[in-house]
Amino acid sequence: MGLFITFEGPEGSGKSTQARLLYERLQSLGFPVIVTREPGGTRIGEMIRRILVDLRNTEMAPTTEILLFSAARAQLVNELVRPYLATGGIVLCDRYADSTFAYQGYGLGRDLEELQAITAVATGGLMPNMTIFLDLPVEDGLQRRRAAREQSGGGYNTPAEWNRLDARDLAYHQRVANGFAELMNREPKRWRRFDANQHVEALADQIFHAVEPLLQGMEPMP
Ligand code: TYD
Repeated sequence: MGLFITFEGPEGSGKSTQARLLYERLQSLGFPVIVTREPGGTRIGEMIRRILVDLRNTEMAPTTEILLFSAARAQLVNELVRPYLATGGIVLCDRYADSTFAYQGYGLGRDLEELQAITAVATGGLMPNMTIFLDLPVEDGLQRRRAAREQSGGGYNTPAEWNRLDARDLAYHQRVANGFAELMNREPKRWRRFDANQHVEALADQIFHAVEPLLQGMEPMP
């Protein structure tokens, strides 16, 4: 029941913007839809997010990081995603478990099977019907983030937060990008890849057309 669509991609690929645009489009067509993000999306999840992105938390152990992402995810799935899917609605989520596989698995070199086991506990096995990947060369994405941060005056609670996780080196972000490519290879049916380096509206149209077939059989609200 319902439809679960996630957005993935490197820093600065415009996921949040595209998730919001798809949300607005589906809503205007009368579909029951919500948009949320990870880490966060719930009161408890947003508290966990603040710990994760805080630049002062340099001593955080990788295991702590994995468990905090997973804890935020468990809260989101239980409090928001599953209940909304159960009503037949559409849930759009900016990042989900694939980010853990890409960032903590390929990026930090943690064992993927171990991450899969933790994720299964956190989500109860819930995986997206479709995952939209916004592709952008790593350096371009980091550059976009830096520019956005300078414009907004910096700080980790600004919309364009430059956080503890972005601050990792280029090699890390390159491993993450390779990780996403590997994840897409493994499950080509679930993933849809888009070039993030194009006009916002054109990209939004392409994403909508990819999602459209999944809407058949779903009831717009009267
Ligand atoms: P987010 O706020 O979505 O940043 P962005 O706008 O760059 O997508 O995510 C915060 C950071 O958390 C981002 O660097 C990716 C990272 N992350 C992980 O490392 N593991 C995870 O499981 C998730 C969900 C995010």
